[in-house]
Amino acid sequence: MTDEKLEVMLTAEQIGNRIRELAAQISKDYQGKNPLLIGVLKGAVIFLSDLIRQIEVPVEIDFMAVSSYGVDTDSSGVVRILKDLEQSIQGKDVLIVEDIVDTGLTLNYLRENLITRQPKTLKVITLLDKPDRRKVPFEPDYCGFIIPDRFVIGYGLDYGEDYRHLADLCILNP
Ligand code: PRP
Repeated sequence: MTDEKLEVMLTAEQIGNRIRELAAQISKDYQGKNPLLIGVLKGAVIFLSDLIRQIEVPVEIDFMAVSSYGVDTDSSGVVRILKDLEQSIQGKDVLIVEDIVDTGLTLNYLRENLITRQPKTLKVITLLDKPDRRKVPFEPDYCGFIIPDRFVIGYGLDYGEDYRHLADLCILNP
């Protein structure tokens, strides 16, 4: 890593090892099922694509894109759907795949929204969890790493749409 603003928090190898563990747990928990994994664009794309290649039950994938309204995002918790699912999830085993849970507002909204569509089961997996930042209670069903309240980029996460391509998860220092 040559950029002095960047400090590695989790190496690609650490992330890969943890994803293997998560995938093994999911393969066990969803044995005999055909879960639908819903990736939340854009940050979760890298995690989703690495995760599904390690899962040993047949999965389907779909995507949603959401955005929070205006500058009041953090406090309002109002979330807008920019891209919705292409299919009904009624009666399906659904697993929402996120890169990070921060305030919890996005996942809280998504879970409430998707539950109204009557999936058979609905769970959430996140690669990263920053519990110190929570504004609403939210507990993911599966979590890769609990991390401190630092601004992280790489492995799908961005700053101004940059850095998503980095293989490591890094802290972006000012
Ligand atoms: C991130 C992340 C979650 C959300 C979590 O997405 O992917 O969707 O923020 O934050 P919250 O817990 O405070 O609601 P972001 O809005 O950065 O969009 P992106 O995935 O397209 O980068």
